[in-house]
Amino acid sequence: MTDLRRVMSTFATGVTVITVGGETPHGMTANAFCSVSLDPPLVLCCVSGTARLHQAVSAEGHFAVSVLCAEQEDTARYFANRARPRGREQFVPLDWVPGPHTGAPLIVGALAWLECEVEEEVVAGDHSVFVGRVLHALAGEDRPALLFHGGAFRGLARAPLPDEANGQVRAG
Ligand SMILES: Cc1cc2nc3c(=O)[nH]c(=O)nc-3n(C[C@H](O)[C@H](O)[C@H](O)COP(=O)(O)O)c2cc1C
Repeated sequence: MTDLRRVMSTFATGVTVITVGGETPHGMTANAFCSVSLDPPLVLCCVSGTARLHQAVSAEGHFAVSVLCAEQEDTARYFANRARPRGREQFVPLDWVPGPHTGAPLIVGALAWLECEVEEEVVAGDHSVFVGRVLHALAGEDRPALLFHGGAFRGLARAPLPDEANGQVRAG
């Protein structure tokens, strides 16, 4: 399905690290993340059935999301690398804090953080869609986001001018 991969790579996304707490904390880079509902507050992430994160989210029933900033490309590459250490050791090279609601690691310096409990898990082909009820959502500093487009990490071309900021579109 190379064509679908190539076609979908034209859709620019942000980049997140999805984490799970518990005895064996785990994190994984993911861009299949989006908002679902404001009332009740729901988001979703799509996780490959072969990803270790899949088993961790199913078992713990929660996940946290750190939305990465442009300076966190190394963090995105790290959590996409299957060869990284497992469990707690995985988080040793990073600045993180445990989420107050789930204990899942939240990456320091990210643009925003969400903690969710799994509301629904839908098996969809070779991935599962985890719908999460948002327990807590917090935005950090207003900084440029890390983007993924055309199979590569990218940054925003430029920050919006003040006039443009007035015309911001509200999505969702
Ligand atoms: C930019 C980027 C986005 C990714 N998005 C997803 C995703 O949304 N879902 C997914 O299952 N894997 C995604 N991956 C792949 C996982 O990060 C990668 O397979 C990871 O090593 C799986 O970790 P785990 O098996 O230790 O949980 C993405 C990789 C990159 C580089």
